Amino acid sequence: MIPLVYDQVNSWGKDDEFFLALLKKINVKTLADLGCGTGRLTTHFAKEGYEVTAIDPHEEAIQYAKAKESQGVVKWIVGDSAQLQTDAFEAIIMTANVAQVFLTEESWRNVLADAYRALKPGGSFIFDTRNPLAKAWEHWALDTTPDIAKNALTGETLEIWTQYEGFVDDIFTFYETVKVADTGQVLVHEKMELKFRTEEAIYDSLRQANFSHIQVYGDWEFEQATPQARSFIFHATKEGTKS
Ligand SMILES: C[S@@+](CC[C@H](N)C(=O)[O-])C[C@H]1O[C@@H](n2cnc3c(N)ncnc32)[C@H](O)[C@@H]1O
Repeated sequence: MIPLVYDQVNSWGKDDEFFLALLKKINVKTLADLGCGTGRLTTHFAKEGYEVTAIDPHEEAIQYAKAKESQGVVKWIVGDSAQLQTDAFEAIIMTANVAQVFLTEESWRNVLADAYRALKPGGSFIFDTRNPLAKAWEHWALDTTPDIAKNALTGETLEIWTQYEGFVDDIFTFYETVKVADTGQVLVHEKMELKFRTEEAIYDSLRQANFSHIQVYGDWEFEQATPQARSFIFHATKEGTKS
């Protein structure tokens, strides 16, 4: 996550509309946005009237988020799922493949356990993750041109270059470099790692964490997942009746 350019290269899309629509369907009020980053979606959740707690360990990203003008109230927290209040939320959401930042099985199990603990009975845990069988990295590698962004402070044009390293143990590694276009000055160089888990592995881990009624969508139109889906969107429920 490079806050300086993140919102500019991750513009609003069908996935974001999907998350807003799904939240509307399930009729909730209290929401935790886990891995909220720069608050790209958080501010929309707040505008829709949800009581939002937004958490991310990336301090600079939270600073960017806080600086945004937004309607509604958001409680911003620099931290991770351990900071989620117990029995507090009707829904917890992780958007834009946050699920893939948990590289080890232990860290993934901890997130699931924390989400379960933090949800109220009948609460929803919602997240997306890329399908390893769709091999998104093969498409990424075809694009050899840099993304372009602007430095909001200096007005300079920025280039974002990506170098792909490859896979070890289902973890895909790549590097992002942000340069000033005119001078070539490197502003940020960051290693990124994404874990690719299968639909079955995620399903089983959710069951082990006691989640039930697990729905898996395979696109941003609410169609059920197929083995060819590019992404899986999971909607799992904590046992119990909504109060
Ligand atoms: C691809 S960004 C998604 C940001 C945001 N959800 C969105 O839709 O734009 C992934 C985010 O996961 C965050 N992250 C990394 N480790 C995390 C952790 N242990 N717990 C929660 N979030 C984490 C990163 O800091 C980053 O902001």
